[in-house]
Amino acid sequence: MSDYGGAGCCRCCFSFLLTSGLTTLFLWLSLHTSKPVCSIQDFYVSALNKTLNSTSNHSIFFDLKLENQNIDKGVYYDAINLTFYYGPNISLPIANYTVSGFHQGHKKYTHRKDLVDARGVPWDEVFRGVSNGSVAVFRVDLATTVRFKVISWKTKRHKLDLKGNVKVDDSGKKVETKGIKLKNGGQDLGCYLARLRVLVVVSVLVLVL
Ligand SMILES: *[C@@H]1O[C@H](CO)[C@@H](O)[C@H](O)[C@H]1NC(C)=O
Ligand SMILES: *[C@@H]1O[C@H](CO)[C@@H](O)[C@H](O)[C@H]1NC(C)=O
Ligand SMILES: *[C@@H]1O[C@H](CO)[C@@H](O)[C@H](O)[C@H]1NC(C)=O
Ligand SMILES: *[C@@H]1O[C@H](CO)[C@@H](O)[C@H](O)[C@H]1NC(C)=O
Ligand SMILES: *[C@@H]1O[C@H](CO)[C@@H](O)[C@H](O)[C@H]1NC(C)=O
Ligand SMILES: *[C@@H]1O[C@H](CO)[C@@H](O)[C@H](O)[C@H]1NC(C)=O
Ligand SMILES: *[C@@H]1O[C@H](CO)[C@@H](O)[C@H](O)[C@H]1NC(C)=O
Repeated sequence: MSDYGGAGCCRCCFSFLLTSGLTTLFLWLSLHTSKPVCSIQDFYVSALNKTLNSTSNHSIFFDLKLENQNIDKGVYYDAINLTFYYGPNISLPIANYTVSGFHQGHKKYTHRKDLVDARGVPWDEVFRGVSNGSVAVFRVDLATTVRFKVISWKTKRHKLDLKGNVKVDDSGKKVETKGIKLKNGGQDLGCYLARLRVLVVVSVLVLVL
């Protein structure tokens, strides 16, 4: 009798563990999202091309790469706001650009290439500077919100607030040959909270087992 009762309890206990384990795994998979990786692959400032020797063309060409590194989650991007600044500080905004929202499948990347018309740059001064061998620094800020597609439902919106500095020399091109990864701008509380939640879930799992 007592053996039978023990087995029942054990089976009950086992199914409880299995259920909570699976729930935890599911929660962990749902919560564990990597934000898209955004980088500036190309950047060309015609006015600083020494060969042209003319600062009359104020356009800046950029190539922005957006990459979803999640192996199992799609990403829904809302409109992406790009702001360009002259100098590493945000004191001098020179251009805005908006990439319209789109959906990106898992493990996919895409490029957005275009020209922006930069205003308010002291072109002649900057041109003299790069001609003298110094580099001009531009800053690119990216702001958007994204949702992840987990199996068949969409998560809430996550903020993406990134920035990067692009150094340009007298060829008009960016100095770095590799792409410039845009990094977190402000304090990313959302990301921190997401990590905290994952930690809590994992701790609960460890305690339960
Ligand atoms: C300005 O330079 C860009 C390349 O950055 C080029 O595509 C564009 O045609 C130029 N505009 C003029 C008016 O020359
Ligand atoms: C700079 O201008 C020259 C002359 O138009 C052109 O041949 C060269 O490709 C330009 N440099 C870059 C990096 O586009
Ligand atoms: C560049 O243009 C200026 C006038 O705009 C001229 O005085 C100068 O000689 C030019 N430099 C080169 C290297 O062609
Ligand atoms: C940015 O601006 C702040 C104050 O406006 C200044 O203290 C700082 O040195 C600047 N940074 C750079 C890299 O110019
Ligand atoms: C960028 O957009 C902001 C707000 O939409 C506007 O105040 C600002 O003048 C724009 N800057 C440029 C350089 O177009
Ligand atoms: C460029 O360098 C020369 C000497 O190397 C200097 O006299 C001049 O002021 C510099 N110009 C700029 C814009 O820095
Ligand atoms: C992007 O810019 C638009 C218009 O200025 C604004 O309404 C929107 O909130 C911005 N998005 C983000 C994520 O900052």
